[in-house]
Parts: sequence; C-alpha cells; structure tokens
Amino acid sequence: MKNDHDHSGTKPGRGRGVTRRQFLKTMGSGAAIAAASDALTDLGTAGAATIEPATIVRVNLLVNGRQRSLAVEPRWSLLHVLREKFGLTGTKIGCERGECGACTVLIDDVPRYACLTLAVEAQGSEIVTLEGLMEGERLGAVQQAFVEHDAFQCGYCTPGQIMSAEGLLRSHPAPKPDEIRRAMSGNLCRCGAYAHITRAVGRAAEMRGKKGGAS
Ligand code: FES
Ligand code: FES
Repeated sequence: MKNDHDHSGTKPGRGRGVTRRQFLKTMGSGAAIAAASDALTDLGTAGAATIEPATIVRVNLLVNGRQRSLAVEPRWSLLHVLREKFGLTGTKIGCERGECGACTVLIDDVPRYACLTLAVEAQGSEIVTLEGLMEGERLGAVQQAFVEHDAFQCGYCTPGQIMSAEGLLRSHPAPKPDEIRRAMSGNLCRCGAYAHITRAVGRAAEMRGKKGGAS
C-alpha cells in the first residue's frame, strides 16, 4: 500500500495523481497567501494614510565663521547636515546616540554632540568643527599637541577629542590633569590612548598660554 510520501513528486493541479491530502495542502497554502496578501494590502493602505510628507524648513547656520542657509527636515541632526550637506567630514559618525563623542563640535564654544543636536536647534549659535581650527594649512595648538604627543592610534576618535579639548581650553586655559580627564570623559577611545591625550591637552594649554590664549 502506498503512503502519502509516494506522491511527493506529483504536481498538484495536473488532474490525475493529485491526492486529497495534497489538494487540501495546496488550497490551504493558496488561501493563506491570499489572506496574507489582503492583510498586507490593508496594512499598506493604513500605513500610507498615516505617513505625512516631510516638512521642510529653511535654517541659517553659522559654521566656522561662514553663514550658510539650507532647507532641512526638522528631524535632521547637525551631524548629518555638517557631513552630508556641507561636506565637513572632520566631524565623525560613531554611535549616533550620545555615547562616544566622535561627533563633538563646539556650539558657542561649548563641546556638544552633533548627533544629538538638531540642525534647527543650532540656528543662532556659532558652530565650530575640526576644519574651523585650522589656520590655513597650519594646525591649531590642540592639533599640533596631539601630533607631538602621539595622542592617537587609529585616529577615529581624534577629531572629537580635539574639539572637546578645544572647548575645555577656551573656558579653562590652564587645566590640571584631573580636570582634563574629567572634561574629556565624554570622548571614548577604542585604542586606549587616554594617557597620551591627557598629556597632549596639557601641552596645548602651555602652547596657547605662550601665544596669549589663541587657538
Ligand atoms: S556619534 Fe555622537 S556621541 Fe557617538
Ligand atoms: S585613536 Fe583609535 S579610537 Fe581613539
């Protein structure tokens, strides 16, 4: 006596050779697919009804001393705008949730995470990115000190570290090592270059002191 497995190669829908069991299975699948398709259609219709077209607003941003105007979606982060719209890729993308500090920029001289700042929020403030610390082709004091003290390995965290150090030195020109460590605690370094970073920030403070506080 044949069992059901003997019919595994028989194609349903070709008349003879289709077992009752295969027929029911086939119809069951078809019905399930049809039901799923209807459900998806309903979902698509419902979804379409709730998605609003993105609102676009115009913002004026002062970045590295230059006034820029552009149309943005209100949800866009400053990080997105700096990198993707202005091409200022010195500001790095890390965690994008306020944990690593790779995206640090200065907003009115205060280090801030650009990933957690909306572009629309930054209107009316002065934004400085890593590119804004350059003096033509010359490195700023913090950048120079990082090079001198070998304060990076892969370098991915370095732009954010430099911006935090810059913010610290603008508000506190002669910090002690523990003050440096505290101020830099929002910037993570996967390579563990912390000791060199602390020394570099101390050195940058000395260099700026000799120059009369300039960056
Ligand atoms: S990318 Fe902004 S804190 Fe990590
Ligand atoms: S130098 Fe590699 S993450 Fe800091």
